[in-house]
Amino acid sequence: MSQGLVSAAYIVAALLFILSLAGLSKQETAQKGCYAGAVGMAIALIATILNPSVEGIFFIVVAMVIGGSIGWRLAQKVEMTEMPELVAILHSFVGLAAVLVGYNSFLEHGVLVGAMKNIHLVEVFLGVFIGAVTFTGSIVAFAKLRGLMSSSALMLPHRHKMNLVALIASIWLMISFVEQGGSTGLLILMTLIALAFGYHLVASIGGADMPVVVSMLNSYSGWAAASAGFMLSNDLLIVTGALVGSSGAILSYIMCRAMNRSFLSVIAGGFGNDAVASTGDEEQGEHIATTAEEVADMLLGSSSVIITPGYGMAVAQAQYPVHEITQKLRDRGIKVRFGIHPVAGRLPGHMNVLLAEAKVPYDIVMEMDEINDDFVTTDTVLVIGANDTVNPAAKEPGSPIAGMPILEVWHAKNVIVFKRGMATGYAGVQNPLFFKDNTKMLFGDAKDSIEQILKAI
Ligand code: TAP
Repeated sequence: MSQGLVSAAYIVAALLFILSLAGLSKQETAQKGCYAGAVGMAIALIATILNPSVEGIFFIVVAMVIGGSIGWRLAQKVEMTEMPELVAILHSFVGLAAVLVGYNSFLEHGVLVGAMKNIHLVEVFLGVFIGAVTFTGSIVAFAKLRGLMSSSALMLPHRHKMNLVALIASIWLMISFVEQGGSTGLLILMTLIALAFGYHLVASIGGADMPVVVSMLNSYSGWAAASAGFMLSNDLLIVTGALVGSSGAILSYIMCRAMNRSFLSVIAGGFGNDAVASTGDEEQGEHIATTAEEVADMLLGSSSVIITPGYGMAVAQAQYPVHEITQKLRDRGIKVRFGIHPVAGRLPGHMNVLLAEAKVPYDIVMEMDEINDDFVTTDTVLVIGANDTVNPAAKEPGSPIAGMPILEVWHAKNVIVFKRGMATGYAGVQNPLFFKDNTKMLFGDAKDSIEQILKAI
């Protein structure tokens, strides 16, 4: 393949990536967006392998077959609820790749002198730094999402000062690295600092801020890929990395706004968030349990119902009976709508995807801001496997979720909470909603409970 053809293929791939991002921004066009991205990536891979300057095609193909088979197998096996963990671990691979490319480029570059050499050394240093931070940060995010590590924030004494010292030390190392014309010892020292920095940065962020962390790591992985692109002089990798890096940063910013969080505070490892998570064991009063039959009667006596789903609906895979119950109630003239919190579940748009999968009509699925004022005039709210997203503790200053906007379900006449026990939500904060006079708890797996209500109706 001639160099001209490779460049043309790269331009087509870059355009397809842009179309992919545009498609992914709307539910209706998301699937087309995925296809555009996949075709773009296939073109990019073929053009890269057939590039006249590439050698050792056999090894590349073997690596692609092995990697592709693992990816194919994982994608088939992964549950919807495990997607954020998968995304987090994939980000760690991008980070690791940037570190390896950085070391390779440092050890194996051709003859460079003057400004070109300095530019190359800065590229190597930054690429390895961003890659190492992304690598350990993503592994911590994976461990937190998979429940291998506590989701609460790690609160080491002087943690912000430690982060600042790590940053200043890395900048100083970069200057010395360039002044010395490249030193393996300094590069290794910075890598160790960056690995520890990435670990600490994500470990210090509390559970409720994890959505922002995942999209922030997405952004870091994009910049890590872009820096690898600079080191490899690959224009497409630079463009793709920049697209991922900037779209991840924009998503993080949007999420911070939705969660009423300061963007800078979250990317600085929870700076300014010094609240202590409650254990969830504190006495908050008495809760009232109810039965499926009672809930069925209550629903039939209501004229308006709002359903606020959360992570538990995804775990229970309750979206199909939820759709069925919605149909039944609507057939009886009862107004049923859904209230979706921006970070309900474990990935952006998680609830929308589940409800769309079960064929719930889009026009009754409302965003939090669209529906929050309507709870006052609602007869019954069904909180299905949601916890943090309906937690009034967010209104209390000093709470780890203080300031996070929530669905104010308690304003409704009756609230039914579907969950298996009295466990706290992902942020580890007990929920005063469960102890309010107008709240009743329906214990059990959400899917079983809805099916029992369906029978009773
Ligand atoms: P959570 O606060 O995670 O609460 C889910 C609740 O579902 C739990 O209290 C659990 O209680 C219940 N549950 C679990 N399995 C169930 C089952 N089979 N049947 C019935 N109930 C079940 O959920 P949420 O309100 O959706 O909040 C999401 C949280 O995750 C937020 O803190 C958010 O910041 C964080 N987060 C979100 C994202 C994104 S992007 N959406 C990413 C990472 C983290 P029991 O165990 O007692 O049943």
